[in-house]
Amino acid sequence: MIRLALTLIIACVLYVDSLSVARSLIVNGKGGGHVAIGYHLAKELNSKGHEVTILQNCDVDNNKVPFSSYSSLDAEIVTMPFDDDFEYPFKAQFDFVFDNNSKSPDGPVESALLAAKPAKQRYTFVGSAGIYEKPSSHPHNIPLDESMPTNGEKGAAQFEAALTSTDIPHIIFRCQYIYGPLCPKHYLDYYTYRINNNLPVPIPAPGTQLVSLTDVRDVAEQLGKVVDALPPSGSIFNTGTFNDLKHNYIDVANLIGKGLGKTPEVKLYDPDVKTDFPFRAKEFFVKSGKSVKELSFSGGSQTLEGFLGELVSSFESRSPNIDTSKDAGVLKAGV
Ligand SMILES: *[C@@H]1O[C@H](CO)[C@@H](O)[C@H](O)[C@H]1NC(C)=O
Repeated sequence: MIRLALTLIIACVLYVDSLSVARSLIVNGKGGGHVAIGYHLAKELNSKGHEVTILQNCDVDNNKVPFSSYSSLDAEIVTMPFDDDFEYPFKAQFDFVFDNNSKSPDGPVESALLAAKPAKQRYTFVGSAGIYEKPSSHPHNIPLDESMPTNGEKGAAQFEAALTSTDIPHIIFRCQYIYGPLCPKHYLDYYTYRINNNLPVPIPAPGTQLVSLTDVRDVAEQLGKVVDALPPSGSIFNTGTFNDLKHNYIDVANLIGKGLGKTPEVKLYDPDVKTDFPFRAKEFFVKSGKSVKELSFSGGSQTLEGFLGELVSSFESRSPNIDTSKDAGVLKAGV
């Protein structure tokens, strides 16, 4: 009898445990162009039934996107100073952690996170493709894949190495430029402002450099695949979609021209000249298919074309003042 009762109790405990909701922690950055990832990722994880907590540096402006939209999320937002006195605030381990904050292994938040081993299943570091070191022999039109050499002097590369040296089960994503709803950095204003004001758009020659521009919602979908696919610890993925990998710098001008109903006047300049052009002057784009193969990522459902309407209306409502005073000099120098 006692044995039966015990068996029932154990069965119940196991059953309840299997029903328990997965818990995810998003450690969000403070600002910069990519801080909207946390918002969209929280929604993505909610849609998978996860209980989501966002750990957020309190030193942000809550009236600005994406923070002004946090209240619409089904997430617990924990804000605190990310300073030298930082102490990791959670007791229980999360199933998944997504870290888009860490900049180097030695920062106070970074080292507290690594010491806390906060993820039972996977710790996903959302870092940057900016750490790739493209060899000068790299052929034109060939994207950088995950096996490319990286620059160990960059903080994000050092954080990757530190994470890899722990026994925390981990995944690394390396991202490039993003756009989309609630993104505070508007890379494309460079184009939109000039085209809208009938000014020439200086583009580094030859202008056919491909660029990885990814909608933040696709990035969120891609990151979220970690919880379904549970890729082997140590896996590295570039972000990016198939849709958005077909644009070169001139295409982007033509697309935005279409959105504004204007014909852009593209002018090429010498890519060695330093300017405010928002992307790298020389070709630098990543291969994104690995997560399609290994994580069953759809390859993305958004497109820059599809976002044009929103892009133009966001531009009009912000009406940014872009400094174009250097353009004439840049163009005069020739190609
Ligand atoms: C956050 O993610 C973006 C990728 O979209 C990346 O560019 C950025 O460097 C990441 N931030 C940190 C601190 O790693």
